[in-house]
Amino acid sequence: MIIALDGPAASGKGTLARRLAAKYRLPHLDTGLLYRATAHALLEAGDRLEDEARAVAAARGLGLTDFDEGKLRGRVMGEAASVVAAIPAVRAALLDAQRSFASRPGGAVLDGRDIGTVICPKADVKIFVVASSETRANRRALELAGQGEKVDYAAVLEDIKTRDTRDSSRSAAPLLKAVDAVSLDTTALDVEGAFAAAVAIVESRRAI
Ligand code: CDP
Repeated sequence: MIIALDGPAASGKGTLARRLAAKYRLPHLDTGLLYRATAHALLEAGDRLEDEARAVAAARGLGLTDFDEGKLRGRVMGEAASVVAAIPAVRAALLDAQRSFASRPGGAVLDGRDIGTVICPKADVKIFVVASSETRANRRALELAGQGEKVDYAAVLEDIKTRDTRDSSRSAAPLLKAVDAVSLDTTALDVEGAFAAAVAIVESRRAI
């Protein structure tokens, strides 16, 4: 079974993806890490995020497992990831690795922005996770504070809005609900409530 979760920043898709992967004993790929790691490699090398050739080389050089999440999770890298993610050649360079992860025997859980639309259009279950921008900014501010990052709620909300606009308006694989995806609004749900709702969606799709 392939489970595809897509949605905007801090909508809760990462937590849901991890929980679903554990419940159904499936491997999980957080595809946002691929774009974050690509951006990180460019910044480390002193290259510009818009340098297509360098960005493609950085994307091609990634492994799928050896991410130093501590360096990739911060606010700056989320913003930088969204810049490199808008380059079509970078997305193309990361396509095969994501598809081969998804086609493992038994299936997989992938979360990102274009899993249900581009990476796994035939996924068994597609969930489009949304939440209000204020709720997402709150969650992200708490998460970043937990990682020791100094955060300002207003700045985090601004980041989220900028990223929503960039991710939704780019021409290459924009953030979009697949026609056959089920929407899950987590605004009023806690982690357990969102997980229960996601499991109900998986079970209902499996029964078809
Ligand atoms: O955790 P959060 O939702 O803030 O970010 P993420 O999932 O780690 O993704 C960071 C950025 O990578 C997003 O803003 C997107 O621009 C990009 N991304 C993408 O374009 N396609 C994906 N499948 C995953 C992430």
